[in-house]
Amino acid sequence: MNTIRMIIDTDAGIDDAEAILMALQSSHCQVEAITTVTGNVHRDKVNQNVCTILQQANQSVPIYSGSARPLIEQWQPDDRRYHMDDGLGDWNNRPTCELQLEDESAALALVRLVNQYPDELILVALGPLTNISLAIRIDPTFPEKVKQFVCMGGAVDAHGNTPTVTAEFNIWVDPEAAWITLDAFAESTMLSWETTVDHIISADDHNRFCNLGTSLAHFYDGINQKPRERTFHVFKGQHIIPDPLAMAITLHPDLILESEKRHVTVELQGQYTRGQIVVNYTRWKTDKPNVTIIRKIDMDGVLALYEAMLG
Ligand code: BDR
Ligand code: CA
Repeated sequence: MNTIRMIIDTDAGIDDAEAILMALQSSHCQVEAITTVTGNVHRDKVNQNVCTILQQANQSVPIYSGSARPLIEQWQPDDRRYHMDDGLGDWNNRPTCELQLEDESAALALVRLVNQYPDELILVALGPLTNISLAIRIDPTFPEKVKQFVCMGGAVDAHGNTPTVTAEFNIWVDPEAAWITLDAFAESTMLSWETTVDHIISADDHNRFCNLGTSLAHFYDGINQKPRERTFHVFKGQHIIPDPLAMAITLHPDLILESEKRHVTVELQGQYTRGQIVVNYTRWKTDKPNVTIIRKIDMDGVLALYEAMLG
């Protein structure tokens, strides 16, 4: 297998942590940089969380601090507080981590790296698209120099997970950034909220992973414990994995069982639907399809990845 060279943009986040670990633990992936953005929690907490994730994986990757807020709106802490106050599940006995950030900001680093290695770097976005949209505005040739752009985001059938009920969280936090990004990339790969809901780790598998006995399994158990207790009434102990699914299909495209190419943009105005993505399922407009929507994933393959990552 050829080595994948990757940049991860993240608002880490519990599921972001699992996705990042999956990339770090993969034998054929080299994570070149991690860029951070406000989303699940404020960017400053995200930076600290990335430090902790790298520490747990015993790896060192340059961290570039990114946008502290969406392009237009003020950022508010997520009401759902699924990721808890620190963004990593308010894990008991969380060890301290000495954060070292690069001097360059995320958007500038994205532009520099992609120009340094044109068509070599895969960009995986696990949070709001603020940094990516800034990179695009700094350098309009940015998208064509990215080898592949994959994002976790969007409710492709309008079954969202935010107060704007038809919108998915990452797009909802910064709709303008998502609009700019989807408009600029000729091709994007999208792992939606609906596909997330169709591919959940069962309570039994989750418990099995928590008890694998390694330090990473202990970390996984620790960051998921409190959110699980709080949301048991909703998820019944099952484990929901939006960002790890996006990472899994990037690392192993053969896990994709069904996908479709559509034209996708973002609603910026709607009275009820600001931040909803708009997918053209009709023949009315002839806009060129710009997004590959992932529909069905080989879940046995994803479970095997979790086992390998935590075992
Ligand atoms: C997305 O929102 C965040 O809470 C998760 O980390 C994921 O990126 C799912 O809607
Ligand atoms: Ca995320």
